[in-house]
Amino acid sequence: MKVDVLLGLQWGDEGKGKIVDVLTPKYDIIARFQGGPNAGHTLEFNGLKHVLHTIPSGVFRENTLNIVGNGVVIDPVIFKKEIDALIDLGVDIESNLVLSKKAHLILPTHRLLDAASEIAKGKAKIGSTLKGIGPTYMDKTGRNGLRIGDISESYFLEKYNALKNKHLSLLAQYNFDTSELADMEATWLSATEELKKLKHIDSEHVLNEAMKSGKAVLAEGAQGSLLDIDFGSYPFVTSSNTVCAGACTGLGIAPNRIGEVFGIFKAYCTRVGSGPFPTELFDADGELMQKEGNEFGATTGRPRRCGWIDLPALKYACMINGVTQLIMMKADVLSCFDKIKVCTHYNYKGEQISHFPYDVNESNVTPIYIELAGWKKDLTGVTDLDALPTELHDYVEFLEKELELPITIISVGPDRSQTILREKALA
Ligand code: GDP
Ligand code: IMO
Ligand code: MG
Repeated sequence: MKVDVLLGLQWGDEGKGKIVDVLTPKYDIIARFQGGPNAGHTLEFNGLKHVLHTIPSGVFRENTLNIVGNGVVIDPVIFKKEIDALIDLGVDIESNLVLSKKAHLILPTHRLLDAASEIAKGKAKIGSTLKGIGPTYMDKTGRNGLRIGDISESYFLEKYNALKNKHLSLLAQYNFDTSELADMEATWLSATEELKKLKHIDSEHVLNEAMKSGKAVLAEGAQGSLLDIDFGSYPFVTSSNTVCAGACTGLGIAPNRIGEVFGIFKAYCTRVGSGPFPTELFDADGELMQKEGNEFGATTGRPRRCGWIDLPALKYACMINGVTQLIMMKADVLSCFDKIKVCTHYNYKGEQISHFPYDVNESNVTPIYIELAGWKKDLTGVTDLDALPTELHDYVEFLEKELELPITIISVGPDRSQTILREKALA
């Protein structure tokens, strides 16, 4: 069996958590391959809402193994909170959740460094979630990091202190207040002890063995392609490879073992944090989208910036990821608009282009739109594909033609049940 990958095609928050949960019954294993607690993946079922940060979104389904892969960075404190909440709900964490020994640890001082770096950047700040993501991946590539596999070793505290001291000297250069550190550290060390209760595995072996024995694996992306460290709107990106290739390095899966690539996008577009966003709306339409879509960050609660769908950006994301099927989310949110706008091209330095350029910022890029008819119907109770309004079918078919890919799932609400299958996806 090959590994299927589900990943975001925009700036994150496309609805990955919901769809991974919907697709999980088809899989034996769900594996996260990058990112960390900067992610907030929301699932809704039986009238309850759950937000996961580091734990894969298959965790609520029985008989599914959830793997936190080597490419993920873990903050033991946030992780413990997630686990405790799941245990309270009766989820059997000890048997269905395992961690790669090679996943890196976010230290309290990584979080302080994240904050210090953002303050030092002033107006040019990234708008980081302040979870310590950037500094942790810097220590990974700088070959200084601490990993899950180190927790149980006798040298752990010594290694921790060495890295902490290195960070303290950097924080002193930033002139950053570290008075909170002692408290943060005590909580962190006790949460790290708790992590010992979970299985620490060589996840690359487990995954490859699972594939050999015919098990179905779904790799769950975090963030979105436009936040990718290489291909996103750099430097306003996260610090990992969010694209499909990240599933290979973040899980130890060979490129020729990748099967379906589910590319997930909102029927419009959002972004949280700083950085370019060509189709961003600053008018009443943008406000309406934010309100109807309840666009507030699942991790930080910050309002998400909203705008129309951006085809040059989406085409770019489909190309980089080798997407094989598309999943369109939040169609219900657009029900309030008479007309739906679609950005098909950019005006780039006076020239009309259809690709996503190197320097995609407001002064270089102006979106060029076409308008399609809105459907003005509440979709949230629709369960049958044929009951969807014609204008929505037209919207979907237009996007399919432009993106040259099938849209196999349409989501019309946050709940598990508000999911309409078109073809292929669950075949
Ligand atoms: P993720 O990070 O990609 O998992 O997405 P988030 O959970 O951060 O954000 C998606 C938000 O949209 C969550 O609040 C979901 O409950 C919600 N959501 C998902 N699908 C739909 C949908 O089809 N319609 C509506 N209205 N909300 C949705
Ligand atoms: P999910 O998985 C949306 C954004 C931050 C910031 C930038 C860098 O829920 O889609 P970081 O903390 O990684 O250093 O922040 O990336 N960002 C996200 N935006 N969804 C996410 O995750 C995000 N994770 C990070 O807002 O602009
Ligand atoms: Mg999210």
